[in-house]
Amino acid sequence: MSEHNPEALQAFAGQVSASVTGGLNCALTLLGDQLGLYRSLSAAGPMNSAELAESTRLSERWVREWLYQQACIKQIEYRESDDRFFLSEEAKAVLADDRHPANLIGMFQSVVAIYDSVDTLPDCFRTGIGHSYDDKGENCACGIERMTKRFQTDQLVPDLLPRLDGLVEMLQNGVKVADVGCGGASSTIAMAKVFPESQFIGYDISMHALNRARNNINAAGVKNVTLHNAIDNPLPNDASFDLITTFDVIHDSTHPDQLITAIRQSLKDTGIWLCADIKGMPTFAENLKDNPMATVAYSFSVLMCMSAGLSTPDGAGLGTLGFHEQKARTMTQEAGFSRFKTIPYDPDMFNAYYEIRP
Ligand SMILES: C[S@@+](CC[C@H](N)C(=O)[O-])C[C@H]1O[C@@H](n2cnc3c(N)ncnc32)[C@H](O)[C@@H]1O
Repeated sequence: MSEHNPEALQAFAGQVSASVTGGLNCALTLLGDQLGLYRSLSAAGPMNSAELAESTRLSERWVREWLYQQACIKQIEYRESDDRFFLSEEAKAVLADDRHPANLIGMFQSVVAIYDSVDTLPDCFRTGIGHSYDDKGENCACGIERMTKRFQTDQLVPDLLPRLDGLVEMLQNGVKVADVGCGGASSTIAMAKVFPESQFIGYDISMHALNRARNNINAAGVKNVTLHNAIDNPLPNDASFDLITTFDVIHDSTHPDQLITAIRQSLKDTGIWLCADIKGMPTFAENLKDNPMATVAYSFSVLMCMSAGLSTPDGAGLGTLGFHEQKARTMTQEAGFSRFKTIPYDPDMFNAYYEIRP
């Protein structure tokens, strides 16, 4: 055995074991969400395990052990004086309130969904071929939808769209819009509700996403949205769209160059492409040094985004951080776009927003 500095070894083992605890906690946090435990605690205030079990109609013994774990990891507060558990205001936002900007439950849902693919990922490392978005199951699509829904429902229309020159007036007057890679269609529905004169077409290649989108569109009751499976019914190359939106799609796609060319060909010369993609830096060294999201981004990349981008033998596999601004500028210019503007939008930690025009 090689010699180790005992203190350094202990510190490193401690760091790694915190990651193990984080892995376990993903499953336990998702259970708290799915069983309504956080929501019950949030609504009722301090409760003991019997009261929480009764309010959620669950077995007290299981609820008690879950509460102990949650208190140890400091997601739930414990009051020894009367043996009761409660959520801080911050915990309510992050764990119990899906509509809060700081809520992270969708992320837990996607992470746990990806764990199912651990058995088959070794083959991906050997063959180079990744899993498609649909291979990861509906829960993964649902988790992504929960991650992005709040921004798309509450902020996209009032806060972001007015930052693009003339866009709101265009949409009010009635134009044709494609939301490419629409996922569960939260963005498509949010825009369609506010701009009834415009026609929206959501495109996606994932059956899970399209099914979720169909249900969400029906539930919202919007009549100016249609859905296309982009595999059978791709973007037309007839310069017919006034606006095309992509929210976190390009870095995930197997052929981003072809997709960008298709976007250019289906957009009018006067049209706008609003592109949101993950904030990244051009090199790994820069991301390692200066990108606070690098660890989570590379983790999602191996398990989800790069994997999806490599799900065909000739896939590009850009990776979660691979469609950074510099790459976006180069690739869009190569596809025939001539104007590129970054839209400043600080509240979003993950995404950068680009206004791209022919
Ligand atoms: C990370 S998800 C984002 C979904 C949605 N825009 C959102 O913000 O919640 C990426 C989506 O892009 C879709 N996608 C990937 N490549 C595509 C392509 N070539 N055409 C249409 N959709 C595509 C995936 O199926 C997936 O639904």
